[in-house]
Amino acid sequence: MNGAREGAGSEADRVVLVTGGAGGIGAAVCRRLADHRTALAVADREVEAAREVALEVRMAGGRAEPFGCDLSRPKDVEVLLDSVVGRFGALHGLCTVAGSIRRGDVTELTPADWRATFQDNLDSVFLTCRAAIPHLTRAGGGAIVTIASGWGLRAGRRAAAYCAAKAGVVMLTQAMALDHAPAGIRANCVAPGDVRTPMLEREARQLGRPVGEFYAEAADRPLGRIGEPSEIADAVSYLLGDEASFVTGAVLTVDGGGTL
Ligand SMILES: NC(=O)c1ccc[n+]([C@@H]2O[C@H](COP(=O)([O-])OP(=O)(O)OC[C@H]3O[C@@H](n4cnc5c(N)ncnc54)[C@H](O)[C@@H]3O)[C@@H](O)[C@H]2O)c1
Repeated sequence: MNGAREGAGSEADRVVLVTGGAGGIGAAVCRRLADHRTALAVADREVEAAREVALEVRMAGGRAEPFGCDLSRPKDVEVLLDSVVGRFGALHGLCTVAGSIRRGDVTELTPADWRATFQDNLDSVFLTCRAAIPHLTRAGGGAIVTIASGWGLRAGRRAAAYCAAKAGVVMLTQAMALDHAPAGIRANCVAPGDVRTPMLEREARQLGRPVGEFYAEAADRPLGRIGEPSEIADAVSYLLGDEASFVTGAVLTVDGGGTL
């Protein structure tokens, strides 16, 4: 807490790192967390887009800095955490949103697709948490929220690598919840269903499907529609905050009932 005050100015009470902060859900998380008491580190390999998100947060009265980083590279991630803590003085929260999808069954996916999918979705979470946890511990505890997917809980067609990687995110989160509870660190997972973001559009293109038709099919779930990024951000905000002080190891599905 004191570190945050020194590094980010007198009013910042917490420092939160959002990976994939330039993407659809990540940007919504940044917007949702933005206030003058929260210093946001917006990390993404799309550094220009991260800069735009940070600017938007600042224009709305929040505090944010962009950080360019390929989260699949151990050295990059170490430099990222050093830079964030160097800039803001401490770290209290982490939301790992970065991820990517390559649609295909195991006969369609190449070994390179498999590796890239695991690197972006699972290695990135391991590497970021590995570098962040010592800082959270030093701050006296903190909160981690990972973003998995409904497909980390129940298989979907032609997304074999993605399903496997996201299932790994769920279990990694729960393992960290157990290991780091004594340090006052809570670790929880949000499992979204189909959400209106650039990723969903890319999936339609990868499958050679018209976007409108693809979205209509994705809406076939109990609540009858796809989700909005802000609805995922609300769940992240809850799990990161003090209202979830007794919640750890939870997997919160935010999917309009899609996994029922
Ligand atoms: N959109 C959906 O329907 C949906 C559903 C379930 C889960 N999710 C998950 O939500 C998260 C956010 O997805 P989104 O829909 O906002 O996608 P998106 O493509 O809009 O955003 C993902 C962001 O992650 C960044 N990223 C990916 N790999 C990275 C890496 N190695 N290093 C640095 N940055 C990297 C990308 O540059 C991008 O800005 C992902 O983990 C995704 O798997 C999305």
